[in-house]
Amino acid sequence: MAIIGQDIAKAAKILEEGGLVGLPTETVYGLAANALNIEAVTAIFETKQRPSFDPLIIHTDSIAKVKTYTRSMDPRLLRLAERFWPGPLTLLLPRGEMISDLVTSGLDTVAVRIPNHPLALSLLKRLDFPLAAPSANPFGYISPTTAAHVEAQLGDKIPYILDGGPSDIGIESTIIGIEGDKLIVYRLGGMSLEMLSAVAGHLHVNAHSSSNPKSPGMLKSHYAPRKPFYLGELSNLMKVHQGKKIGILAFDQLLADCPASFQEVLSPSGDLSEAAQHLFSAMRRLDTLDVDLIIASTVPDRGLGLAINDRLRRAAATE
Ligand code: TXA
Ligand code: MG
Repeated sequence: MAIIGQDIAKAAKILEEGGLVGLPTETVYGLAANALNIEAVTAIFETKQRPSFDPLIIHTDSIAKVKTYTRSMDPRLLRLAERFWPGPLTLLLPRGEMISDLVTSGLDTVAVRIPNHPLALSLLKRLDFPLAAPSANPFGYISPTTAAHVEAQLGDKIPYILDGGPSDIGIESTIIGIEGDKLIVYRLGGMSLEMLSAVAGHLHVNAHSSSNPKSPGMLKSHYAPRKPFYLGELSNLMKVHQGKKIGILAFDQLLADCPASFQEVLSPSGDLSEAAQHLFSAMRRLDTLDVDLIIASTVPDRGLGLAINDRLRRAAATE
């Protein structure tokens, strides 16, 4: 069992000694280690059972520090950073010398983000190295949005989880990079396309490739519960799976004539940010119920709805 607490000095000491810490962020909890320490980064891959071709995001607390870990910053990405950091946005930047191939899986870019969480920021401020931190879940499973989620899956493998309460955004960061002169979104996430394009202009979304993914968050089957998970129109899916015990993930209202205890409503008021905040904990709860399968419906395709639907489709994908 990991110790769960709010002791930043303790977390910093473990990290300085090359250990792993559960890190709260506004998107999801991370599994953090010193990004400049090869053994510590190796331990992240082992603990998560993550394939080494899946690169990590490094986290820090200022644009000045980001500049020391990267070679340059395109003016449009700099504008996004100045406007939205700290926040749920990850930028792919030319990798600086300090950052090893292990972190970037041999790519010439490094993914960087300044998270918007008071505990994470005060921890990062004390450290003289960035933190590599993938989501703190076994590879392919649902990302954690509370310290208890981290404890449930990785608690026997890490000494300490910094408890920053439930993640505000609830869904991983949006990942953006540049190819030629085009801004490309590689992962839909906690920062909406509407907000980003208001600052950066037109964005190309390239988040759906499933073979040879540039970003394994792009793998078709990802973020998946262990129970069979089906996406579609709920009353229709109920008919298809008649006779089975069914968990239901609904957007804004309970499905009539089904027990409420087997249902999760993401946002009774139909608010997409609230729905994103509840998505992963709702999927986890349904996954632990005594049900044969889970059914879910998509949400409206605007704001954070795009990222929510992306996660639901990947959870339902079978390859
Ligand atoms: O919100 C988040 O981003 C959370 C919190 C903890 O910050 N982190 C997170 O990390 O979601 P992870 O490792 O679960 O997802 C990182 C994604 C992966 O899909 C990885 O392939 C992609 O970022 N990535 C990292 N470096 C990359 C690079 N240089 N080029 C393309 N994709 C990259
Ligand atoms: Mg992840």
